[in-house]
Amino acid sequence: MRGKVALRSRAWFNDMANPDMTALYIERYMNFGLTLEELQSDRPIVGIAQTGSDLSPCNRHHIVLAERVREGVRDAGGIPIEFTTHPIQETGKRPTAGLDRNLSYLSLVEVLYGYPLDGVVLTIGCDKTTPACLMAAATVNIPAIALSVGPMLNGWHKGERTGSGTIVWKARQMLAAGEIDYQGFIKLVASSAPSTGYCNTMGTATTMNSLTEALGMSLPGSAAIPAPYRDRQECAYLTGKQIVEMVLADRKPSDILTREAFINAIRVNSAIGGSTNAPIHLNAIARHVGVELSVDDWQAFGHDIPLLVNLQPAGEYLGEDYYRAGGVPAVVAELIGQGLIHEGALTVNGRTIGDNCRDAGIEDEKVIRRFDAPLKPAAGLSVLRGNLFEAAVMKTSVISDTFRERFLSDPDDPEAFEGRVVVFDGPEDYHARIDDPALKIDERTMLVIRGTGPIGYPGGAEVVNMRPPAALIRAGIDTLPCIGDGRQSGTSGSPSILNAAPEAAAGGGLALVRTGDRIRIDLRRGEANLLVSDEELAERRAAFEAEGGYRYPASQTPWQEIQRGIVGQFDTGAVLEPAVKYQRIAQTRGIPRDSH
Ligand code: FES
Ligand code: MG
Repeated sequence: MRGKVALRSRAWFNDMANPDMTALYIERYMNFGLTLEELQSDRPIVGIAQTGSDLSPCNRHHIVLAERVREGVRDAGGIPIEFTTHPIQETGKRPTAGLDRNLSYLSLVEVLYGYPLDGVVLTIGCDKTTPACLMAAATVNIPAIALSVGPMLNGWHKGERTGSGTIVWKARQMLAAGEIDYQGFIKLVASSAPSTGYCNTMGTATTMNSLTEALGMSLPGSAAIPAPYRDRQECAYLTGKQIVEMVLADRKPSDILTREAFINAIRVNSAIGGSTNAPIHLNAIARHVGVELSVDDWQAFGHDIPLLVNLQPAGEYLGEDYYRAGGVPAVVAELIGQGLIHEGALTVNGRTIGDNCRDAGIEDEKVIRRFDAPLKPAAGLSVLRGNLFEAAVMKTSVISDTFRERFLSDPDDPEAFEGRVVVFDGPEDYHARIDDPALKIDERTMLVIRGTGPIGYPGGAEVVNMRPPAALIRAGIDTLPCIGDGRQSGTSGSPSILNAAPEAAAGGGLALVRTGDRIRIDLRRGEANLLVSDEELAERRAAFEAEGGYRYPASQTPWQEIQRGIVGQFDTGAVLEPAVKYQRIAQTRGIPRDSH
């Protein structure tokens, strides 16, 4: 072997003290044609965690890319071993793919730890596949590199770009307003997904793939390459070569995923206009690798960063444009120019992020703006708290002038808003009643939805993006502010307060809100409060507890029940709480016991 590291796969394939077990392990991995020489010659065994399948169309191209990964691994002297992961597809999985992130995490930890793997290529893409893989790599802490599948090509309809995920909001409004029919609706939405790959907008997928690169966990310049481009195949090959080098250098996730790396990623998230799902996922990864990171860090480090990337839904362009404009390195270079990146953070290639990105240039300033000519100032998140929740996030940059006019509570204070609320218990209740005139929803109404968090839904659904009643849309009111204990699709752009923790199902203040109440949002103070007296609130709380707490639908599967029993809240990553104490287990727990 060229390096000096002790390969953990030797405990399976070459344990001189235990020939019986070595023989048992060896013969089964030889049975599809691997040779004894390959398994016993101290060559790194590299797993390829395959997230693509027919059930996971966003990541399905990884089945093709894995061939090039294998060639890269081989050319660098390693032995590739590909295996499937629990499928996750953001739009297809019911009740929500949010439920599967932790399940996929859990099963991947078991695979990475329990099999003879010296390192792993994590094939990422669709929203939850990325955090699931990174969380598992953080827990196990064997050398790991992520390979993005890349975004789809740009979607087009009648000469205009149609972005996956974002077009559905517009099409839904057009359908509600009677501008298109059902067939036209489907066609318009489908136009946004013209090729293999993940969502071409700055939704959660592009966000998480970009942040993976910003964290240093994938090759520089790799996140934005569209899935069908030849560069993507080349990247797969180089990723395969890189992981073998990482194993030999013993470069592990804990070397890369430092607090500095997370702060870099928070800043990049603001600059790219990243999804409100990002804090949940990054906080989860941080907890599994044992790095202190809180929801408040998102406001402290991210809030004041301007929006530089002009991608839908905040802007105009899509994935191909992002790549041509320079992708993540161009954004990072722009932030480096302002002293906003910890340049010394290590990345998978053994170089620092500063060395990787410092000289990257913006190739198209319409798509990636200069720091001094941004799309929006202060594009990050605000963290709110009060009697409604202990923490929730709001993208204050999407607050429009019309929102300010309609909800301003005090003419002398431009940062305080107030509105009457209408409350829904879950999306079924919302769909059944949104168009009911008895609710008296007008342009000054705030919509509240609860029962949609990690426990209540379960998994935390992306349902906080509620459209106004059809009658209001016809009158030109496209959006109303939404408040909820669920998530919002990264591709939606309405002014909303999301990820409220604790959720109603965990006894959070949202459980006590009633239709007709007023809520006040004070951005200067970082507060959101229900405007009822403390006595009234205490009475409501007592009645709520006497009734046995918040009612949510019964679990339908074993995993739903298990997740509900052990999941945490959004502000701390919605992780499986008992899993957090298992950190860096490849080092701290040694090698698992023999199987026979
Ligand atoms: Fe899979 Fe958007 S739905 S990437
Ligand atoms: Mg989503």
